[in-house]
Amino acid sequence: MGPWRHFYRGAMAAQPGSEPATAERPLALATGASRGIGAAVATALQPTHRLLLGGRDAGALAARTAKLPGARAWPVDVTDPAALRAAVAEIERLDVLVHSAGVAELGTVEEAAPSAWRRNLEVNLLAVVELTRLLLPALRAARGHVVVINSGGGRNARPGWGPYAASKFAVRGFADALRAEEEPNGLRVTSVYPGRTDTEMQRAVVAGEGGEYDPRRFLRPESVAAAVRTAVLATPDAHLTELILRPTL
Ligand SMILES: NC(=O)c1ccc[n+]([C@@H]2O[C@H](COP(=O)([O-])OP(=O)(O)OC[C@H]3O[C@@H](n4cnc5c(N)ncnc54)[C@H](OP(=O)(O)O)[C@@H]3O)[C@@H](O)[C@H]2O)c1
Repeated sequence: MGPWRHFYRGAMAAQPGSEPATAERPLALATGASRGIGAAVATALQPTHRLLLGGRDAGALAARTAKLPGARAWPVDVTDPAALRAAVAEIERLDVLVHSAGVAELGTVEEAAPSAWRRNLEVNLLAVVELTRLLLPALRAARGHVVVINSGGGRNARPGWGPYAASKFAVRGFADALRAEEEPNGLRVTSVYPGRTDTEMQRAVVAGEGGEYDPRRFLRPESVAAAVRTAVLATPDAHLTELILRPTL
């Protein structure tokens, strides 16, 4: 988006509702957009961005894109490097890349199988690294913005959360390195650390803990998405590097 980004960001921040026509909008790719936080991020960015919605569930992606003018499905398994390479081939300029695809396979150090550690690291770290690497030229061309949906688990490792926490601590290191390397090229990199959020992932976590699921105890995905939108539409002088959200008590 170049200098247009600066005009654009300032205008959006100052005058919500003054959105440009669809074809002129910057392009955002959100992984994990078939449901949960990624889907909410797509909805939050739709008024200001053209969208590519990532995920493997083609049916869910079709249902989401049907509701979001300017959105296209981007069906790809992010752990498949060949599929990733093919899927990024068409993207020459990218203004916003939101990494929301993620898994949470939990277990104590004593009990978690090697496959759980591997699965968390493959999806939550290695896929984020590879997709960003492949898209760096497109992001640089647009002086773009990378948003990593991290987690409270990327700041505190609690008992039973080791495999997930390790992947989220690691992806924090990735985001910090990327910011240090690419800020001089005009990129912004934001890590977002949500606490427990009312999604299918959280339902599975609570089921595993044997607890009763009460969505009122958790953040809404739309609240996390609003934080992402704030970072993306920040005024030109502001680089929101880290955002921490937790549910109010
Ligand atoms: N929910 C929480 O409490 C919470 C809290 C803090 C941070 N987070 C983080 O927020 C992010 C989103 O989580 P969520 O709660 O929205 O989870 P979710 O509802 O389970 O959604 C996960 C998303 O990731 C996609 N995904 C998973 N594996 C994939 C793969 N191999 N290739 C492509 N897409 C894949 C899924 O799409 P398909 O199934 O269609 O492939 C889905 O869209 C994750 O990084 C998670 O760690 C969640």
